[in-house]
Amino acid sequence: MYRTHTCGELRKEHIGTTVTLAGWVQTVRKFGSITFIDLRDRYGITQLLFGEELNKALTENPFGREFVLQVKGLVSERTSKNPNIPTGDIEIKVESFTILNKSVTPPFTIQDDTDGGDDLRMKFRYLDLRRNAVKRNLELRYAVNRAARNYLHEHQFMDIETPFLIKSTPEGARDFVVPSRMNPGQFYALPQSPQTFKQLLMVSGYDRYYQVVKCFRDEDLRADRQPEFTQIDCEMSFVEQEDILHMFEGMIKYIFKAVKNIDYTEKVERTTWEQAMWEYGNDKPDIRFGMKLANLKSAFQRGGKITAHGELINGAGFGVFDNAESVLAIAVPGCSEYTRKQTDELTEWVKRPQIGMQGLVFIKYNTDGTLKSSVDKFYNEEKLKAIAAAAGAVPGDLVLILAGREERTRKATSELRLEMGRRLGLRKENEFRLLWVMDFPLFEYAEEDNRWVARHHPFTSPKPSDISIMIDNNPVIEHAEKYLEHPYSNIKANAYDMVLNGNEIGGGSIRIYQRELQEKMFAALGMSQEEALHKFGFLLGAFEYGAPPHGGIAFGFDRLCAILGGSESIRDFIAFPKNNSGRDVMLDAPSTIDDKQLDELAIALKGGDHE
Ligand code: AMO
Repeated sequence: MYRTHTCGELRKEHIGTTVTLAGWVQTVRKFGSITFIDLRDRYGITQLLFGEELNKALTENPFGREFVLQVKGLVSERTSKNPNIPTGDIEIKVESFTILNKSVTPPFTIQDDTDGGDDLRMKFRYLDLRRNAVKRNLELRYAVNRAARNYLHEHQFMDIETPFLIKSTPEGARDFVVPSRMNPGQFYALPQSPQTFKQLLMVSGYDRYYQVVKCFRDEDLRADRQPEFTQIDCEMSFVEQEDILHMFEGMIKYIFKAVKNIDYTEKVERTTWEQAMWEYGNDKPDIRFGMKLANLKSAFQRGGKITAHGELINGAGFGVFDNAESVLAIAVPGCSEYTRKQTDELTEWVKRPQIGMQGLVFIKYNTDGTLKSSVDKFYNEEKLKAIAAAAGAVPGDLVLILAGREERTRKATSELRLEMGRRLGLRKENEFRLLWVMDFPLFEYAEEDNRWVARHHPFTSPKPSDISIMIDNNPVIEHAEKYLEHPYSNIKANAYDMVLNGNEIGGGSIRIYQRELQEKMFAALGMSQEEALHKFGFLLGAFEYGAPPHGGIAFGFDRLCAILGGSESIRDFIAFPKNNSGRDVMLDAPSTIDDKQLDELAIALKGGDHE
């Protein structure tokens, strides 16, 4: 037997027992003729005491950090206890030991505060995974996984696997493809999600499906995106939107309780896409704090209303406002006393290429009711007060105003709001606020191709009341610049996203389940009948054999874990992640393959050269 106990297990009540432990050497401390070693395994750390006799043997077998050691000894009370670790009351008086394996000196310290940089830790990820911080993340991931499965199992969901070698599933990204040796010149695509399969399972009568499943998307990577990531993917039959929202806010609340012991008793808030864009400039708003956007000039394109204050800023001779498509403001609470240095720094912040604004206008609404601004030349105090009021400011606030092209200004103001929220400590790590964003537009207009694209995916149903707009109108866009006037831009989808603290953690929709409407959808996206049949004939065919009304949702499992674990980066919650260029630096993948393999696959590389 390699061990009788783990390194995290022994307590006062074990004193006097002889035990065998096995683990890795965390630290070695020599004090004259005795040596202390901290032995580590997945469960914790136990202090070992090598007395005089064994110390000699230790010196003859020099060993260091990360050696794998087996020791037998007596559990004894420590003279100086360590209250910081659960095993801190005891130590093992070692009677005999065996070195099970050696280790070279690790390239970084295996500690919470490691000296290893990101790249090094990724290259030696198997060592990084020994660190507590990473282990805790994986434990949290497993807890979320278990909780989700428990909840879904309790609600009659069935886990059914779907294939990875498939034909393209359009989710808006590029596909990863896999060449087929047996079918030269042909390729599988890796699924961007199991979307079409889960719908087929509904046709087959498995009315509650789920899967914790890998999805593959070749897209630009960010902190919250990986080329292969995991979804908690779900689908239900005979449901309306309300049933799905109810079922899955239940799941998230269940996970909160199981993993974080949080009772999320509040009602999950809801907003429409339009309202979210209008109030936050963003379709995944962080609602842990207010600071909503005030539209000082132009209305937001769809559904916005022109404020009564447009005329206050127009025609004052300040070209930046007068000529701007959009002027947006936020009122930052309690910041009216910002210094010149601070406002200059904020101005630099909005000028960064990622934000891309020309400048920032501010109004300090002092606590004594006076106002001071960077545009005093153009607006007298009365007007400034009216603008501040339009921005929702009260004395003590700092009003920040951005002006420019509609979309850029909206995005920039949204980012500025988040940044100010961060600086003021309003985005608290341990506060969780869920939000459903609903009623998305069904279509988006793709300028490059002058055609409609599905905002969610092509299987999403329009709102029942909008189906006739789709059926009755020709999708062709005659005047590209006037696409907003096309009836299709008003069609709303039966789609919903779940947002947690400003992150989209899930998205889904009620699906189309009639062949005719699905065909109409493909046509609206500019697909010929032939192309639709070639790509999705299987689904159109299935819809003819009694497809039930159905809908579903998929949660970004990695994202959910990262947020629950208080991290921005999903990489910290994936055992073997890729870097931002999509590389696995440990494996050094992707890599070239040899000519023999290429020949077998009937593939010739463009340019011919490869190693
Ligand atoms: P969607 O594309 O919105 O929907 O994806 C669902 C959720 O998956 C997460 N996600 C990602 N996480 C990490 N890295 C990525 N590259 C990545 N892309 C997406 C997000 C997102 O909310 N088939 C539909 C679901 C449905 O309609 O039921 C789908 O995949 O958290």
